[in-house]
Amino acid sequence: MKGPFKATKVTDNVYWVGAIDWGMRNFHGYQTRRGTTYNAYLVMADKITLIDTVKGPFADEMLSRIASVIEPEKIDYIISNHAEFDHTGALPRTIQVAKPTKVFASVMGVKVLSNLFDLDIDVTPVKNGESLSLGNMNLSFIHTPMLHWPESMVTYLAEDEILFSQDAFGMHLASTERFDDELPYDVIAEEAAKYYANILLPFSPLITKLLKSLPTLGLSFKIVAPTHGPIWRKSFSDILNWYSNWAEQQPSMRAVIVYDTMWNSTDIMARAICDGLAEGGASVSTMPLGSTHRSDVATAVMHAGALILGSPTINNGIFPSIAETMTYLKGLKPKNLIGAAFGSFGWSGEAVGHLNELLKSMNVRLISDGIKASYVPNADALEKCRALGKAVAERLKERL
Ligand code: FEO
Repeated sequence: MKGPFKATKVTDNVYWVGAIDWGMRNFHGYQTRRGTTYNAYLVMADKITLIDTVKGPFADEMLSRIASVIEPEKIDYIISNHAEFDHTGALPRTIQVAKPTKVFASVMGVKVLSNLFDLDIDVTPVKNGESLSLGNMNLSFIHTPMLHWPESMVTYLAEDEILFSQDAFGMHLASTERFDDELPYDVIAEEAAKYYANILLPFSPLITKLLKSLPTLGLSFKIVAPTHGPIWRKSFSDILNWYSNWAEQQPSMRAVIVYDTMWNSTDIMARAICDGLAEGGASVSTMPLGSTHRSDVATAVMHAGALILGSPTINNGIFPSIAETMTYLKGLKPKNLIGAAFGSFGWSGEAVGHLNELLKSMNVRLISDGIKASYVPNADALEKCRALGKAVAERLKERL
């Protein structure tokens, strides 16, 4: 079973035995420009325990890393914190190779795993708060339903004060470095935000509840080991603060203009609105969908206090790129936003009305009926766009 891959020591008792996916660029609609890792962890207790596995095609890489520490057949237990395929795709093969005596998952996890796989072993359910003795070490399980699947849980290793947090506090970032303090801080801050915006944002009320409950659990964390990206051993308090802020989405002086354009008329309107916003003191992300991915829009909107949408009218409707991006964004449930719509048209001009309805359906508070410009916007229309930008900036200031 030995191969070219090696484990990385996390503590004297725990090894990272995951896989690096350098080529991953699309994670169910989320553009992962820096690839990702699937993190699995080997706990070398009396009962040798593997926490999570990896995506199916990376099973051999994980088994090779495990074999650099012990023969996989020596694994006694496997814990499945989260059933999504990027962490369980390799589970059936790992069970066949390692032949563990037990596989554990949350009560819901047992059900989900039975829907995903025909495993060679009955999975044992663990309750919220339950502990598992590994002989000389102890694991305890905290269920975190809907963070971000119904069966999700996290596992705490008391002796080493490690929280195996599955997707929570993770990010899509392929690297040879395994720890937060080995990577550029601005890169991990950017990727952690993008991960939160694209995966966890809809569950923000649950995140807030979880963060408030953490101090009451009486646990201390030296290391937080998620299933994607770096292991937190230095800056965990920073990501806790970031999560708290992102979950709240407090009003800010940032605005996002999301638009597409047919013959550049809506484009020049967007740029005039941008200038008005900047003049009013807002910082602006102007995001033409011809060159912007929806997952970057999601990240920008999470940081913003205003969302301004633009589309020309096409066949009595809105541009397909806007419809696609807004379907994605609506599902992520951003909140505390004000907004407005704009767009050019030739002869019917329904797009702005559709955009207004779309914004209202996302609980965005409209501060204008929107601006329509016939064919090519004239000086008067562009002045209205600039004024709209300034008005949005003023409203953002009032909300701070
Ligand atoms: Fe990394 Fe929800 O899977």
